Amino acid sequence: MVKTFNAKILSNEEVAEKIFRLTVDAPELAENSRAGQFVQVKISDDFTLRRPLGIAGTDGGKVKIFYRAVGRGTEKLSARRAGETLNILGALGNGYSDFGGKILLAGGGMGMAPLLCAAEKFSADVLIGGRTRGEVLFWQEEFRPHVEKIFITTDDGSYHKKGFVTDFLPEILAAENYSAILTCGPEIMMRGVARLAAEKNLPCEVSFEKRMACGLGACLSCSIDTVDGRKKVCKDGPIFDARKVFGGERRE
Ligand SMILES: Cc1cc2nc3c(=O)[nH]c(=O)nc-3n(C[C@H](O)[C@H](O)[C@H](O)COP(=O)(O)OP(=O)(O)OC[C@H]3O[C@@H](n4cnc5c(N)ncnc54)[C@H](O)[C@@H]3O)c2cc1C
Ligand code: FES
Repeated sequence: MVKTFNAKILSNEEVAEKIFRLTVDAPELAENSRAGQFVQVKISDDFTLRRPLGIAGTDGGKVKIFYRAVGRGTEKLSARRAGETLNILGALGNGYSDFGGKILLAGGGMGMAPLLCAAEKFSADVLIGGRTRGEVLFWQEEFRPHVEKIFITTDDGSYHKKGFVTDFLPEILAAENYSAILTCGPEIMMRGVARLAAEKNLPCEVSFEKRMACGLGACLSCSIDTVDGRKKVCKDGPIFDARKVFGGERRE
């Protein structure tokens, strides 16, 4: 059920340059949210529009969020302190499907956030992509308690394999058996992951980001084209079957 919560900030720490881990006390939201869903955060009274952020964890009645400070809203959020109250609307959107068996979580950058929540709920391995060592180290620590295997790529080769998620993925898919792939990150990466999944005849779900206003399906500002016509990312998504947004058929 979608509700607004006045959640107490438990911590709001910088875990890498400009990347913050925000933990709030919100037991009802934690209990009623699914992996892949997001919240709309009211930054302060100076901001009319809330900002959408993915739910990255729901352990122990706490909701965990990771965000990159990229603009006015997220910069201001980074100055909020433990003990203050944050108004949160959620849980929003549909969430990832439960495919059963072991899945692969493949993501890049801040796209790892909703995948971390999926790692909490499903049996999974993870493929983490980032630009540099500093951008993947904290994700490695976050995923470690929740997954069996961790694969890592960095664009600059400063940690583990050099290259992109899509460079390493064929090797992983040749060696492992998964029931599905869940992906989130830059669109070009998700498109590549979806193509490789289709080649292996694996179901693949992607998480889409669009600038949002209401977050509730009322304003149409987040519409995208899909095989099934126009869809709202906030209400019909943000999780979509890759074939519906990128086209392409799996072999049945
Ligand atoms: C469903 C959903 C889940 C998201 N989850 C996360 C998350 O877990 N962690 C995280 O760091 N970010 C996430 N985002 C992106 C986040 O909402 C934006 O970065 C944030 O709203 C920017 O607000 P701002 O006021 O700081 O930036 P603004 O001053 O509004 O804009 C600064 C820059 O950020 C870009 N930007 C703004 N909104 C978006 C957006 N929706 N998608 C991509 N770029 C945007 C702008 O193009 C601009 O370049 C998510 C977005 C959506 C739609
Ligand atoms: S943000 Fe208003 S319809 Fe999606």
